[in-house]
Amino acid sequence: MSQAVAGREAETAGPAMPRHVAIIMDGNGRWAASRHLPRIAGHREGARAVRRTIEAAIRHGVEWLTIYAFSSENWRRPAGEVLDLTGLLRQYLRTEVAELAKNGVRLRFIGDRTRFDPDIQNDLAQAEAGTAQNTRLNLIVALSYGSRSEILGAARAMAEAMREGRLDPEAVTETCFGRFLSTDGIPDPDLIIRTSGEQRLSNFLLWQAAYAELAFLDVLWPDFGDTHFAAAMAEYARRERRFGARPG
Ligand code: IPE
Ligand code: IPE
Ligand code: MG
Repeated sequence: MSQAVAGREAETAGPAMPRHVAIIMDGNGRWAASRHLPRIAGHREGARAVRRTIEAAIRHGVEWLTIYAFSSENWRRPAGEVLDLTGLLRQYLRTEVAELAKNGVRLRFIGDRTRFDPDIQNDLAQAEAGTAQNTRLNLIVALSYGSRSEILGAARAMAEAMREGRLDPEAVTETCFGRFLSTDGIPDPDLIIRTSGEQRLSNFLLWQAAYAELAFLDVLWPDFGDTHFAAAMAEYARRERRFGARPG
């Protein structure tokens, strides 16, 4: 096989291993309801699933893992649930970050963090700064994240840069636009997993997901573990990524 052909094949089929896996962690409420437990019990169990998933990602050699923990629309939930979720986040940041740091995980947060209490904002900044040198796994946590508002923010920042003469409209390419997004420097997700059987993106990485492979699993997030992660990776390996080119 000539090099050109081999190169083209690599481009269309893609490697069997995703570099970047993104997960929409859904189903905590239903998990709790099925056990006649309060929703918070599902969220707590969901936090345990996050731990297992990070370990699985490391074991499988994934470089980038993005998890959707709280959407910009989730603020619409009853105040009590929002309080439970922010409380869990606070607790998670205080108890888990040291362990993640020790395991070589680099943390980064995307989303509108200004909506959280100042102490949480402070912990987020510290977690990022304290793990910035780590290289084993890049963990991106989407918090108060919404893709449309991210894209709108990028458009606004670009317009501002143009008005000030710092950016030439002719120079705006996809790469240039990507630099204005919160995912600047992060490769696009290769595989997006959603648990709980729902088949939608719910305002998650709309720009970045243009060519992602999607895997919808029936498992509820608190039950998610290594076997599900492995199954999604195997499913990915069976897919043929064409990026608009011809098959084969
Ligand atoms: C996912 O579980 C966690 C968040 C969205 C914060 P849900 O709370 O959405 O659980 P279901 O969808 O009601 O089962
Ligand atoms: C998506 O789940 C957001 C997160 C997993 C954080 P939701 O449960 O909020 O999504 P919808 O409302 O069912 O689309
Ligand atoms: Mg849900």
